[in-house]
Amino acid sequence: MSREIRRAAEILRAGGLVAFPTETVYGLGADASNARAVARLYAVKGRPVEHPVIVHFSSSRQAFSWSSDIPPAAHRLAENFWPGPLTLILKRSALAKDFVTGGQDSVGLRVPSHPVAQQLLAEFKNGVAAPSANRFGGVSATSAAHVRADFGAEVDLVLEGGASEVGIESTIVDISAGAPGILRPGRISVSDIEAVLGSAVTQKRDADAPRHSGGLARHYAPRTPARLVPSYELDTEIAKWRDKVAVLAFSRPDERVDFWLRMPRDPQAYAQRLYAALRELDSAGCELILVEAPPSDAQWTAVHDRLRRACG
Ligand code: TXA
Ligand code: MG
Repeated sequence: MSREIRRAAEILRAGGLVAFPTETVYGLGADASNARAVARLYAVKGRPVEHPVIVHFSSSRQAFSWSSDIPPAAHRLAENFWPGPLTLILKRSALAKDFVTGGQDSVGLRVPSHPVAQQLLAEFKNGVAAPSANRFGGVSATSAAHVRADFGAEVDLVLEGGASEVGIESTIVDISAGAPGILRPGRISVSDIEAVLGSAVTQKRDADAPRHSGGLARHYAPRTPARLVPSYELDTEIAKWRDKVAVLAFSRPDERVDFWLRMPRDPQAYAQRLYAALRELDSAGCELILVEAPPSDAQWTAVHDRLRRACG
């Protein structure tokens, strides 16, 4: 156990904030049993208190102690996908207080696989409440540098863990009531979940998803307005905006555009690079970010979900 991990666990015990790498995105962690620590977490992130936060553990056994009702489906999903990029919403036990569940009767539980997260959680020996380590509504962090850029000295310690391997947030499956439903798509796909459960799961809407009529339209969004365009419209849009636009596309750079990032055609590689790319284009100071829409097949579901949110 490294000295830095021990120090990080001490900071958490003292009510401090520790950002740490996970395989999905970086998390901004606080002791999930400490009301004041979680209040500071919400204040620093700028997050409304009624939003529930995911609680992280080093093992399924520990995670499940925060739930009062663990259906067979939860055991099956945990056996297959934990540690890994999956969050389960379950009925809470008395350990999950209102300040982590947003007052709901359910709790979000996750056992991440990143070795640094595993070491920290094993050393801390209790639940760590951790939203993605970015300012509320902004683009998630997939490197320690992203976390420092967003929070600077407001976070007590940032653990280094390299670039996040998955690059987008965990798949969230709600099994707290009735038939299992997907609240947020991720690397673990609907068909992966269905294969394990042996039954169909529905796609539900989560609290952060874009609404159609005004309201909370943008989440995971850069400050620069972003627009999703089909490949066949990209050229027309570029002709309109020229040097005022930054572009995220599959094709080769166009000489009329100064800020152009070329993305991989593999959905997992795309997801891995997405947030770093959006952050980079956001800092270009353009009027608009144009995003070439990826293919519409099922492999791209999670990427489409994040792009729709980023583009409001
Ligand atoms: O990959 C991830 O899940 C990352 C890493 C750090 O673990 N965390 C993350 O947390 O994305 P956050 O707070 O940015 O997103 C949590 C999502 C929110 O949409 C929230 O509404 C939902 O999880 N959530 C958490 N607890 C819930 C509950 N009890 N019921 C319904 N939704 C819940
Ligand atoms: Mg988030």
